[in-house]
Amino acid sequence: MKYEVRVGAQAGPLFLLLVGLGALTVSLATPAQEGGYVGSETCAECHDEVAEAFATSAHGRADLQGWGSGESCEGCHGPGAAHAEEGDAELIRVFSQQYPASTDDACLGCHNGPELAYWDGSTHQTAETTCISCHSVHQPWTEDRALINRNKTESCLDCHADMRKTLHQRSNHPLKDGQMSCDSCHSPHGSAIGGAVDAISVNDKCWECHAETRGPFLWEHAPVQENCLTCHDPHASNQTKMLTVSAPRLCQSCHQFGHHQTVAGEPGQVWIMNRSCVNCHPRIHGSNHPSGVIFMR
Ligand code: HEC
Ligand code: HEC
Ligand code: HEC
Ligand code: HEC
Ligand code: HEC
Ligand code: HEC
Ligand code: HEC
Ligand code: HEC
Ligand code: HEC
Ligand code: HEC
Repeated sequence: MKYEVRVGAQAGPLFLLLVGLGALTVSLATPAQEGGYVGSETCAECHDEVAEAFATSAHGRADLQGWGSGESCEGCHGPGAAHAEEGDAELIRVFSQQYPASTDDACLGCHNGPELAYWDGSTHQTAETTCISCHSVHQPWTEDRALINRNKTESCLDCHADMRKTLHQRSNHPLKDGQMSCDSCHSPHGSAIGGAVDAISVNDKCWECHAETRGPFLWEHAPVQENCLTCHDPHASNQTKMLTVSAPRLCQSCHQFGHHQTVAGEPGQVWIMNRSCVNCHPRIHGSNHPSGVIFMR
């Protein structure tokens, strides 16, 4: 039942998408491909294993519901009449031999909804990462993976290998345990703001999960409202609580003179012990207490 609803919801846009596809195949087809369409059943005669696996993929499931009028293989691989006659791989679109842009075009002909609105000009697009660098369209469909062939975080670490250390640092987000993944914060398809962060600002992204730091507060701490990353690394840190540097140094970078010393005197003193400045100023993100002006309560 759930499945029918999913596909039903697609029907309107899909009709338009398929109209668009006619134009698409003209622009991408090699001259030899102009023999026209033969339909998936013909492809399955020779590619029986691929066709069998395809039935359980996201696109195969959509096809079972009447999507693509039986032309599903050719929806991506282009018209295959000439190829089906000869069995010659030169006469069909083989994605591994495409330029990145034309691979993307084959997918974007149908996937032109809001989730890909920022793709053009995004860092991944300009770095010539293609749709199929991350998605394996022929693999079986799973509830949570969007054709990503394994754990989503692992698929990012294939290319962003330097980020692997963040899974093991002293404080971090729970990516290693699978409670979150890179796409909890990033849209791999690009976004309205820098760093492919999937929100209208970095703070708004953090506030989706850490609403308690948002306020409104009677007494705001200016840098918190400005940018969480002034004090926190979003990925991980060797300090506690993902701080960029340890307190008191973090606080001293802005607060040096005042009613009390902010530099450590002797070792072990309250200024540097344990949570350092936060020993006495624990409401560091802001306070709603009438006398919380210095974030003590
Ligand atoms: C008469 C049998 C036959 C039919 C029908 C057929 N193919 Fe093929 N196809 C082949 C053969 C043979 C190859 C070459 C295999 C190789 O080189 O490893 C091939 C290669 C391919 C390749 C390239 C694979 C690669 O690894 O390079 C794709 C993609 C493909 N076919 C898709 C299709 C599609 C889509 C259809 C239906 C429109 C189709 N084929 C119909 C026999 C067929
Ligand atoms: C949604 C687009 C799409 C559809 C629909 C599709 N393919 Fe593919 N096909 C691809 C892409 C992209 C690749 C490149 C490898 C990959 O990403 O999995 C591929 C790879 C292949 C290969 C090469 C083998 C390989 O694993 O690299 C064959 C053969 C093939 N497809 C045949 C078919 C047949 C037959 C059908 C229909 C039953 C079909 N494809 C439907 C996009 C598609
Ligand atoms: C850098 C890796 C990467 C690239 C490149 C990429 N995607 Fe994705 N895509 C993902 C991930 C990860 C998700 C899962 C997002 C989620 O679950 O929130 C996803 C989700 C999707 C979805 C499911 C809808 C959604 O937003 O959940 C579609 C459709 C899609 N991608 C199509 C494309 C197309 C088309 C391209 C090429 C223009 C592309 N993707 C390029 C990683 C990528
Ligand atoms: C002819 C139209 C068409 C083309 C071309 C096409 N798709 Fe799709 N795609 C669909 C439909 C329909 C669905 C199913 C939507 C649904 O179930 O909500 C889908 C679903 C997806 C999903 C989501 C799977 C999930 O688990 O939710 C991804 C990712 C995706 N396609 C990637 C691609 C990529 C990459 C390409 C290019 C190689 C491509 N598509 C080409 C129509 C198309
Ligand atoms: C095929 C390789 C590849 C894969 C897979 C990949 N990336 Fe990237 N990514 C790149 C390249 C290349 C760049 C640009 C150079 C750089 O910053 O390293 C980049 C840049 C980025 C950036 C910086 C964006 C900016 O605008 O500054 C983010 C964030 C990012 N990737 C997140 C992800 C996430 C999340 C995933 C997994 C869903 C992922 N990447 C998967 C290759 C990849
Ligand atoms: C808790 C949210 C969050 C998670 C989870 C997350 N990131 Fe980020 N990431 C950010 C923010 C915020 C930025 C900084 C954007 C900016 O510069 O404004 C960033 C920046 C980046 C950059 C740009 C280079 C840099 O280091 O500044 C890359 C690449 C990147 N992230 C990849 C990843 C990968 C890969 C994963 C998964 C292992 C991941 N991120 C998980 C929030 C997150
Ligand atoms: C998708 C939800 C989500 C988003 C978005 C998110 N976080 Fe988190 N954050 C968590 C979870 C879950 C934990 C772990 C809580 C726990 O272990 O009790 C956490 C923990 C933390 C911690 C404490 C780490 C520690 O060692 O105890 C800090 C600091 C933090 N996040 C900052 C940020 C910042 C800054 C951003 C924005 C760049 C952000 N978070 C975005 C879910 C999120
Ligand atoms: C002025 C520096 C500063 C800024 C800016 C800042 N924080 Fe913090 N944050 C801290 C300090 C210091 C701690 C450690 C408090 C402690 O030791 O109990 C902390 C702790 C946290 C924790 C862990 C809370 C817990 O009880 O474990 C989270 C979550 C967090 N911050 C989220 C955020 C978010 C989200 C933002 C942006 C809205 C932000 N922080 C901005 C300094 C800052
Ligand atoms: C990026 C600079 C910056 C950092 C880092 C920073 N603060 Fe602040 N802090 C400010 C600003 C700006 C104000 C508002 C000052 C004002 O209104 O005169 C402020 C206000 C305060 C106040 C309220 C007293 C006052 O003068 O209004 C306290 C207490 C305070 N910060 C403690 C801390 C502690 C403890 C840390 C370290 C966890 C810290 N701050 C880190 C910039 C910073
Ligand atoms: C032993 C508790 C304690 C510790 C630890 C502590 N403070 Fe304070 N802080 C206070 C008290 C009490 C006041 C109010 C003093 C007053 O108004 O005369 C204060 C006031 C402040 C003020 C606002 C008044 C001003 O203009 O000076 C700032 C800023 C401040 N502290 C920063 C820090 C920083 C940075 C650290 C860490 C190096 C720190 N505090 C550690 C107790 C503490």
